Amino acid sequence: MTHPVSSRPRSRPRPYRRPHKDPVRILAYDALRAVDERAAYANLVLPPLLGRAREAGTLDARDAALATELVYGTLRRQGTYDAVLAACVDRPLREVDPPVLDVLSLGAHQLLGTRIPSHAAVSSAVELARCVLGDGRAKFVNAVLRRVAARDLDGWVTELAPPYEEDAERHLSLKYAHPRWIVAALWDALGGGRDGIEPLLAADNERPRGTLVARPGRSTAEELPAADPHAEPGRWSPYAVRLAEGGEPGALDAVADGRAGVQDEGSQLVALALANAPLSGPDTRWLDGCAGPGGKAALLGALAAGRGATLVAAEKQPHRARLVARALEGNPGPAHVVVADGTRPAWRPGTFDRVLVDVPCTGLGALRRRPEARWRRRPEDLDGLTALQRELLRGALASVRPGGVVGYATCSPHLAETRLVVADVLKGLPGAGAEWIDARPLLPGVPELGEGPDVQLWPHLHGTDAMYLALLRRTA
Ligand SMILES: C[S@@+](CC[C@H](N)C(=O)[O-])C[C@H]1O[C@@H](n2cnc3c(N)ncnc32)[C@H](O)[C@@H]1O
Repeated sequence: MTHPVSSRPRSRPRPYRRPHKDPVRILAYDALRAVDERAAYANLVLPPLLGRAREAGTLDARDAALATELVYGTLRRQGTYDAVLAACVDRPLREVDPPVLDVLSLGAHQLLGTRIPSHAAVSSAVELARCVLGDGRAKFVNAVLRRVAARDLDGWVTELAPPYEEDAERHLSLKYAHPRWIVAALWDALGGGRDGIEPLLAADNERPRGTLVARPGRSTAEELPAADPHAEPGRWSPYAVRLAEGGEPGALDAVADGRAGVQDEGSQLVALALANAPLSGPDTRWLDGCAGPGGKAALLGALAAGRGATLVAAEKQPHRARLVARALEGNPGPAHVVVADGTRPAWRPGTFDRVLVDVPCTGLGALRRRPEARWRRRPEDLDGLTALQRELLRGALASVRPGGVVGYATCSPHLAETRLVVADVLKGLPGAGAEWIDARPLLPGVPELGEGPDVQLWPHLHGTDAMYLALLRRTA
């Protein structure tokens, strides 16, 4: 007996196709794994990975820029992407293997946070999954990302966040990918309504342009741009140079040999305000009480040298004190680096004429630079930090002579780390121990500094980190 021959050709298994190895996505995935697995920092992990890839000839400058954008963007918006992925995966996200979640997050960022067309975003993530996870899990990645691709970012925010009118903090938290407690803290510090907070949260999601400081006596802001034809002068610091978008400050000769440094303009303005605060009597001994890694110390050291003063740069951590020493190498005048605890000054009370304490803080003012920081910080961190900040400010006030000036600075606008610390310490000083100096005139030309006497800079208003500065004069 013969069987009828089917008129339809039998479906044959598709021939195996090797996954496409895309060096940009593989490098971005490696960086995300390091940040996730080893709690590494993206700004430290990425440069060596990019450097090796460039040496091996696998990435050109455009690829490196794309890889950087993918890593930073994925990490910054992690909370929002997690919420979207949770809606697209049929089990709790914590049960998804971390490497799979990293590929999914990278895919979600390409779909929702870049202009990469949807089909290319999904297929590149699936190819990456095939390379690093295997074909089985790549199918899962494909299925999930197709669900993610059903809406754009605004569509997902509408779907997942409560309306602004119902719960403004939760709405903004999801829309701008900031933990809710950080939205609340920034809003408190900023005051005002929706018009203020939204541009700030949006600015936190932009990568800042690299900024250099031309160290006085060693280089000038006019000569630095030679290395970068698209660089621009800073807006207010006479020593600042803003590099072109994507400019690599570390690659410049002047930075390598210490004539210039990489320093946000806000950080420069803080050091300048302390250096220029009016002072009567001697002005020869300056202290940076929390100097590591040395950005402000290097600028203060150069300014001090120009006026015949000496800088002492104190830092508690020996390895960070070594960074300060490196930053001060070649300083045009005397500068000494000491390993010291600023809460228990090792020098006689009243030794210094000017003292800066740029205290350890939550870093909520520099979220633009550290994409993963907002998801690692916890509100509980504040207790220990604010206690230390008070101690350090007391130590600084004890170190300055009567009539001398103390600058209290943080790279966080959180009120618990700024005004409340200063107010609390002043309240506890015996007698009329110190008085406020209006810091605003010491940042000449800088707009929107508030009602004083302290100043708060903002990324969306000034294009700087959200540095805070209070200036105090010791009176007794
Ligand atoms: C915000 S950073 C200072 C940044 C620095 N001013 C700059 O511009 O590069 C705070 C520094 O204070 C140091 N520090 C923490 N506790 C300290 C203490 N008790 N005494 C002195 N330094 C301390 C930290 O190790 C850290 O290097």
